[in-house]
Amino acid sequence: MNYFRDNIEAMEPYVPGEQPGDARKVIKLNTNENPYPPSPTVVEAAREFDVSRLRLYPDAMASEFRREAAKLLDVPAEWVLPGDGSDDLIIMIARACLGPGRPVAFPVPTFTFYRTQGEVSQAPIVEVPLRAGFALPVEQLIAAQAAVTFIASPNSPTGVAPAMNELEALADGVAGLLVIDEAYVEFAEQTALPLCRRCPNVIILRTLSKSYSLAGLRLGFGVANPTLITGLLKTKSIYNVGALPAAMGAAALADQAYARQCTAKVKASRATLTRELERIGCRVTPSQANFLLAEIPGGAARARAVYEALKGRRILVRYYDQPRLDDKLRITVGTDEENAALIAAIAEMP
Ligand SMILES: Cc1ncc(COP(=O)(O)O)c(C=O)c1O
Repeated sequence: MNYFRDNIEAMEPYVPGEQPGDARKVIKLNTNENPYPPSPTVVEAAREFDVSRLRLYPDAMASEFRREAAKLLDVPAEWVLPGDGSDDLIIMIARACLGPGRPVAFPVPTFTFYRTQGEVSQAPIVEVPLRAGFALPVEQLIAAQAAVTFIASPNSPTGVAPAMNELEALADGVAGLLVIDEAYVEFAEQTALPLCRRCPNVIILRTLSKSYSLAGLRLGFGVANPTLITGLLKTKSIYNVGALPAAMGAAALADQAYARQCTAKVKASRATLTRELERIGCRVTPSQANFLLAEIPGGAARARAVYEALKGRRILVRYYDQPRLDDKLRITVGTDEENAALIAAIAEMP
């Protein structure tokens, strides 16, 4: 007998970006982490944490963290669902809403974990190509009438954020849930948060992995009306956020001044890096995220060669061997020093 269901046997696993053993020895611009450390208040919260609490199970709703997230977004706590990273929320949504006869739709290219979870759930998968300039194919996404439509806003790997009227049209037009994944929203111009207040089918996802410099802690949350939250809770693992991450995450959210300061630095470096990449001949998609999608002059063969050569120099960026992306590199915005080293390395290449 096969150990796994046929769809699990058949599917490709999600492939995470490379995580080198010792990150201090590389310039790591491949998985959109923040180049700056977490807030000192997070370190303080960890130091002050009463370790004897670890003997007991944590609060199943991570209430301390939930309250802080609700306060930040000015919604009642019942509107917030904490997760073990925002990918945990994607898993809960897939488990609760997708299945045979319950399709998932999303534009491509985008975060491939949406597809992974669709496949795990045996849902029909509707992938709609982004339009020219990576614009959202609103009509075709609506036409899919999916049980769940995922939109990353800003999108990865393009860095493009859909216009608010496009998201509104989707919210009003799709048959099922509209998930607006705002993993990178702190680097963007606007949030779709008002939409989840107005539309009963909209859930917003947030993460502490990017603008709060806490990718290793694993914390995210969903924001939606209590009816959606109550439904999704049925598919949550029992204690999905530990007591220590909850305390540290609450401290991170409470220190908005620090988060804003880091985000401003990343946005300023993004502008400089865009200019520098253009100066050495790359075509850069205007980005509202903490990364850039840069077309490398010379086409796919050179883009791959540049990726490999950078890796040889311990500079990691992301290369996607797929149509529309194979002549480009996705580059996380690092510190100004890291970005300058990247530009110098590319500029030296034949
Ligand atoms: C669009 C998007 N959504 C969600 C995630 C997952 O983030 P988390 O670390 O919160 O699981 C990522 C990670 O890179 C992402 O790019």
